[in-house]
Amino acid sequence: MLTVREMTVSETDIIVDYFLNATPEYMETLGLDPTRFPAAESFRKRLRREAELPIEQCSAVLVIWLQDGEPVGFSTADEITYGAQAHMHIHIVDPEHRNSGIGAECVPLSVALYFERLKLKRLFCEPYAFNIAPNRTLQKAGFKYLKTHMSAPGPYNFHQAVNCWVIERQNVLGSG
Ligand SMILES: CC(C)(COP(=O)(O)OP(=O)(O)OC[C@H]1O[C@@H](n2cnc3c(N)ncnc32)[C@H](O)[C@@H]1OP(=O)(O)O)[C@@H](O)C(=O)NCCC(=O)NCCS
Repeated sequence: MLTVREMTVSETDIIVDYFLNATPEYMETLGLDPTRFPAAESFRKRLRREAELPIEQCSAVLVIWLQDGEPVGFSTADEITYGAQAHMHIHIVDPEHRNSGIGAECVPLSVALYFERLKLKRLFCEPYAFNIAPNRTLQKAGFKYLKTHMSAPGPYNFHQAVNCWVIERQNVLGSG
């Protein structure tokens, strides 16, 4: 059984370990530049602080994906304008868990959580254009393709071709 919920403070270490233990080759496939990440301790503190803040003050919302109670992945939302829009990121930690349907189930649940908690009107996701898995998963989850453009879509990304996807409130699971 898959569960999607906001992370507890101690669970935020999953994100730190995932990125800081990643190989440069894996980072490259995600469009990430390893040299742009903060050092472990400040990264850890920053995420723990985010998980403690009231939702209206968060600069990032951190969501965990659990399979039978065990963490398998996570999603984050940042570039948040509360009551309006945000940007989503999606990751399954263990390569063996990828491409077996977890993302297809957890992405819509994460999207619904962000819309509910952040009172969003729309949610964007901008994966690296050459990274097939998120592009396919977003389409399957009801995101609409907007455009492909050159951008550094986040503070840890290199300048790259990204596909811009968006989902509007009326297309979200469970929204009235
Ligand atoms: C992106 C990610 C979260 C998707 O979750 P997932 O569980 O692997 O996806 P699913 O198995 O539910 O598959 C969803 C769709 O994507 C397709 N897909 C998944 N992985 C794929 C791959 N490696 N190559 C081609 N298609 C793929 C599936 O076929 C399915 O589409 P379909 O039903 O139309 O055939 C996961 O692959 C992942 O964590 N990848 C590494 C991190 C990453 O790239 N994050 C994105 C950063 S923006």
